[in-house]
Amino acid sequence: GKSGYNHYMLKEINEQPRALRQCLRGRVNELLRIVQVDEVINLETPNAVQFVACGTSYHAALYGAQFFRECGVMAQTFLASEYTAATVPMGEGTLVIGVTQSGETADTMRALREASAAGATTLAMTNVVGSSAARECDHAMYIRAGPEISVAATKTFGSQQVAAVLLATALIGVADQSLLAALRGLPDHVQTVLDSSRARDVAEAYLDADSYFFIGRGYNMPVALEAALKTKEITYKHAEGFAAGELKHGPLALVTEDTPVFALLTAGVNFEKTLSNVREVEARGGPVIAVTDSPKEVKGYADHVLEVPETHSTVAPIVANVQLQLVSYWIANRLGRPIDKPRNLAKSVTVE
Ligand code: M6R
Repeated sequence: GKSGYNHYMLKEINEQPRALRQCLRGRVNELLRIVQVDEVINLETPNAVQFVACGTSYHAALYGAQFFRECGVMAQTFLASEYTAATVPMGEGTLVIGVTQSGETADTMRALREASAAGATTLAMTNVVGSSAARECDHAMYIRAGPEISVAATKTFGSQQVAAVLLATALIGVADQSLLAALRGLPDHVQTVLDSSRARDVAEAYLDADSYFFIGRGYNMPVALEAALKTKEITYKHAEGFAAGELKHGPLALVTEDTPVFALLTAGVNFEKTLSNVREVEARGGPVIAVTDSPKEVKGYADHVLEVPETHSTVAPIVANVQLQLVSYWIANRLGRPIDKPRNLAKSVTVE
């Protein structure tokens, strides 16, 4: 059941600390500074990684590929529906990772089968033990988020992001101590957001908007895309996510005082540049909602602030995403949408 929540989506958003704890359990050894993923213990370090996925899982894959690259492994991300092994150069030792909550998505299954036929080693990163992806791939790594009922994926997104970081670290053997400590703290940080979020008030303030923008750079870019997808899916309103730097290359023309822009402003190398993009929005009269761990630095630039605890810059976007899940939920809730079963959508998409 929904354990007292009005919707599975809200229940699942609130289950994230537990889901993340389960994903991390027994895999991180902070003392030895290593990550061990039992499922891939026999997997060699790949020369290159190709992620294939759809929807929310694609956004998690974008984040994961970025982390692999930071670890020094060539990594690319493909929409499963656009992936063809024939047009992607596949060298020796290429690992193709299908990120799929259900393990049943037809587009992702086809891409994995094609990759396998082309000689790649395949790995399913999935939530469902015994799913088609888990059975058919050479390897399966479980994200252990627990059952997700809501059509809109929430808790599985963060778990997929964490699983990708764990997988890369396990395969490469590089474990940054501060990153491992941040992963340990992640469930508590998410809990802090769940306990203190002002997302409901922010949703209320921008209920009338026809369109919502989300911007972020680096690890926050996939989170911006994910927030827009979630908003479209459950509120039925137009929403778009952009790499913050792309705003001035076109979409800025759409920004007026009726276009709320949610900016992911977590501390790190991308903070200052994203803040200048925020100034460009402000100058056009666009309302700015900052999702940030640095409230002092954004003062004067943001109309609303959604605060997140300070943590490692790689992990912060995972926490920031929770604020935006809640914003989309409360907008949809106030508009009376059928949140758990949006029109035209199915939980598992089994046709190409
Ligand atoms: O089960 P999968 O992760 O393969 O599903 C992929 C997409 O269909 C899924 O993430 C979809 O985009 C969700 N409804 C997003 O909330």
